[in-house]
Amino acid sequence: MKKNSTTHSAQNVDEIVSNALTELMSTKTLDDLDQWRIRYLGRKGIVVQLKRSISDLPSAERPEFGQTINSASKELEAKLLNKQEEILASDSKKTAESIDVTLPGVPVNNGSLHPITQTIRDICDAFTTMGFEVIEGPEVELDYYNFQMLNIPKHHPARDGFNTLWIDQEDSNGEKPMLLRTHTSPMQIRTMENQEPPVRLIVPGKVYRYEATDSSHEWHFSQIEGLAVDKGITFANLKGTLYEFARKLFGEDVKVRFRCDYFPFVEPGAEMSIDWNSRTNQTGDANWIEILGAGMVHPKVLKAVGYDTDKYTGFAFGIGVERIAMLKHGIDDIRLFYNNDIRFLGQF
Ligand code: DAH
Repeated sequence: MKKNSTTHSAQNVDEIVSNALTELMSTKTLDDLDQWRIRYLGRKGIVVQLKRSISDLPSAERPEFGQTINSASKELEAKLLNKQEEILASDSKKTAESIDVTLPGVPVNNGSLHPITQTIRDICDAFTTMGFEVIEGPEVELDYYNFQMLNIPKHHPARDGFNTLWIDQEDSNGEKPMLLRTHTSPMQIRTMENQEPPVRLIVPGKVYRYEATDSSHEWHFSQIEGLAVDKGITFANLKGTLYEFARKLFGEDVKVRFRCDYFPFVEPGAEMSIDWNSRTNQTGDANWIEILGAGMVHPKVLKAVGYDTDKYTGFAFGIGVERIAMLKHGIDDIRLFYNNDIRFLGQF
């Protein structure tokens, strides 16, 4: 039977609200009120549980259900404040002039982590449990690390794909050596330059592209880079690691697919897609959605940092964080993440 068929209806939310309001009417003390608040509006409360269950719904149904939950939650918060004032007013009447400084204060609505921050944490958790270390790197980067050391020399056509924002400062040859990093891959090089294998790292961070924005493009977004280099690493390790990551993030039943792709710094290169329907047990055709690029680190890249390619091999991958967050939460416009609209951000 399908999970949660009853919880996912507006009718069910109405019922929860009306039960909550009946209970609220009978609260007499601030302690009772606080218990009520924890039960319905607390961090593990019923409203939060309803919000979490949104991601189980088919994406077409999510926005409407999300709005129903939001307005229910607002109603409960408003009623809570009214009730609190009512209790405080009657208490202060009773105690005439005396002020009880131990009374709990008026609850302040807690903020929450930005959905992209939450997604980055989820992804990092998935990889750290597999032994990867989390590191960060500079957003203003050198052409040398962003391109050249990644097997993308000057004038290489692959540069066209990375619409680069250059820093307006020329060197003695009249060239611009600095840029806003177009991907998190340069941290592969910076790390390997300073560290002998074994290397197992992930690099979350902001990246920048000179792009017109639309519902699926932003001029800045987030990536998580991954790199593993050691003796005897094979494509099977790449597949196993990334499959495990997909299962940790999207559930045990998720199906994945690898296909050839090209990135100058890996050979062979691949893209991994997940079958979106497999995680919600929907029947019918697979709905393949690409979630990352990956590959075996190109021997030229390993040689450039001084690694012995007879001894060491490795795999690398790059994950688009917004893509994953949009999938997980059923969001269809990437720009929503960065408009700072509290009506959107307050849902997470
Ligand atoms: N850096 C690539 C990009 O921004 C993503 C990527 C693909 C990273 C393959 C990798 C990789 O490490 O192996 O498009």
